[in-house]
Amino acid sequence: MSGQLGSHIVYYPSVDSTNSRARALLREGAVHGAVVVADEQTQGRGRLGRRWTAPPRSGLAVSVCLRPPAGFPLPLVTVTAALAVGDTVRAVVGASRCTLKWPNDVLVDGRKVCGILVELDGTPGAWTVVVGIGLNVNAAPPLPTAISLASAVGVPVPREPLLIDLLAALEGYLDHATTQPEAVMSLWRDRLDTLGRRVRVAAPSGVLEGLALDVDGDGALLLRLDDGTIRPLHAGDVSLTSG
Ligand code: BTN
Repeated sequence: MSGQLGSHIVYYPSVDSTNSRARALLREGAVHGAVVVADEQTQGRGRLGRRWTAPPRSGLAVSVCLRPPAGFPLPLVTVTAALAVGDTVRAVVGASRCTLKWPNDVLVDGRKVCGILVELDGTPGAWTVVVGIGLNVNAAPPLPTAISLASAVGVPVPREPLLIDLLAALEGYLDHATTQPEAVMSLWRDRLDTLGRRVRVAAPSGVLEGLALDVDGDGALLLRLDDGTIRPLHAGDVSLTSG
């Protein structure tokens, strides 16, 4: 999967959702690495059925079309995306201020600067994947839990160089994951601030509390409940608890 991300870029001043456009492009035969980018989304989607909104031209709304080779470990798509965004953000704010939160949020000073929505279509052996990335560059939602790169560094941040860096980083991690999946998982583990912490997870099945022990090979969070049982969680929102 080398030298291809961004070889074909579709730009919209305004679009419903770059992920929706990217999925449609893949159905129409788009090549691996085609990218959809927009200045504004009118129906941006987040994880767990949420909306994703950002003022026009304030951030990066980008979706990357992937046709992973047969046998590529699909959980690693999310992992590589988080690592790639993390590298891009670290280059702007400094490594010490940027952490990753399971499953795939990127945080600056503990506040969310980027969300990632990975969507899968197709059939076993012929999956197509869209990696949707929403990065708060020059504005963030007015929430105490969110931040933009510009507010983190105190000056406006140009968006185009970020996109170039992000695509290069994602390509590098995807290549690395093709040959050395364990090494990429291990880097993700190291960057995940969630592990080793006591957390509350709002999972689709309910709210659970426990110790975030580790992640498994599928990217699931292994949560040790207070009764000692270990629950693998595949989706959810994590918050740190003090207890
Ligand atoms: C999250 O809930 O944290 C994930 C947010 C993902 C938002 C991005 S913006 C570009 C792409 N298009 C969408 O509709 N969603 C993703």
